[in-house]
Amino acid sequence: MRFSYFLAFCLCFLLITNCQQSDTQKESNVTMNVEQRSFGKVDGNEVWLFTFENSSGMKVSITNYGAIVVNLLVPDQNGQLDDVVLGYDSVAGYLDKTPYFGALVGRYGNRIAKGRFTVDGVEYKLATNNNENHLHGGIKGFDKVVWDAETTEDGDNMGLKLTYLSKDGEEGYPGNLKVTATYWLTQDNELKIDYHATTDKATPVNLTNHSYFNLAGQGKGDILDHEIQLNADRFTPVDAGLIPTGELRPVAETPMDFRKPFKIGARIDADDQQIKYGGGYDHNWVLNNQNGSLAVAAIVSEQSSGRVMEVLTTEPGIQFYTGNFLDGTITGKNGKVYQRRFGLCLETQHYPDSPNKPEFPSCILKPGETYQTTTVYRFTTRK
Ligand code: BGC
Repeated sequence: MRFSYFLAFCLCFLLITNCQQSDTQKESNVTMNVEQRSFGKVDGNEVWLFTFENSSGMKVSITNYGAIVVNLLVPDQNGQLDDVVLGYDSVAGYLDKTPYFGALVGRYGNRIAKGRFTVDGVEYKLATNNNENHLHGGIKGFDKVVWDAETTEDGDNMGLKLTYLSKDGEEGYPGNLKVTATYWLTQDNELKIDYHATTDKATPVNLTNHSYFNLAGQGKGDILDHEIQLNADRFTPVDAGLIPTGELRPVAETPMDFRKPFKIGARIDADDQQIKYGGGYDHNWVLNNQNGSLAVAAIVSEQSSGRVMEVLTTEPGIQFYTGNFLDGTITGKNGKVYQRRFGLCLETQHYPDSPNKPEFPSCILKPGETYQTTTVYRFTTRK
């Protein structure tokens, strides 16, 4: 008798909890899923791949090795998903050889001439890894370290909070720098990155993401037919080592003029000194928005898929790099071979070599200050 009461009680309980669950599902069809799996080992320790999926089916996978965006699956005009970033299927590829695919670059993204700069009267000498210059944080930059990772939520959006302590003297930089980067997948098909850092000695800081995008799908050809618009009236011309000369040059009447949408391939091999130095586009544009608010910096579109990517940032500059150094020697995800210009990067940033250019916006973070920037990659479609 007692047992049948117990059974009846259990049944009621199950019925009630089931009803409650279906109610929550009825109330809202906004969902966010996260999965965590092994991505392989670095120095004998497991690193992870976190995959977030929003209600529209857009997915982003991020590993805590190098804070790398590994996969970014975005719907086309018919709702079909394609992976729009270049990369590797496991961490082994990134350990072997990578032109910074998807990585978070720092402590200073881009170049510092001869790896030297002076702060507070002290000259610092950084690791040089790009001929005589320092590039993307040096020999072991933020793209090659293991970050601490935890998932986080904000309303309907979910993210991955990555933290790293860059010690005083690492790659030659002054000060212990505590860095947090949070990658958010929003319900509006955005990948949003919030960067945050504090230091105990004055140091240059310039954090960015180095994803190579191909809106037709990774490995499906070059990006020359993509159109791009850059919200910039000027760019920073460079010397043969891709170090800015210090000039802010108007883009008008140059192949750098993307104030209106233009096919990337149309002028990429123009008879122009700047284009020759870069082997195509590999330059920093001076964004028209210089007040630190979040504003549209770039719009990229690809006709066959109808995909459009808007890049919004609080940063004063953007490096538009057309993958000129890809040369078919890398086989990436799904066995795809990455030929020259198979991906494009839009690295939101402070201008290259800012530590040596007092006329550029300052990139020096001082103790007691907080470095805080945001960049958003927003995906939509049009027919
Ligand atoms: C730079 C290129 C460099 C590439 C490395 C870009 O940010 O501007 O010059 O070759 O990164 O993959």
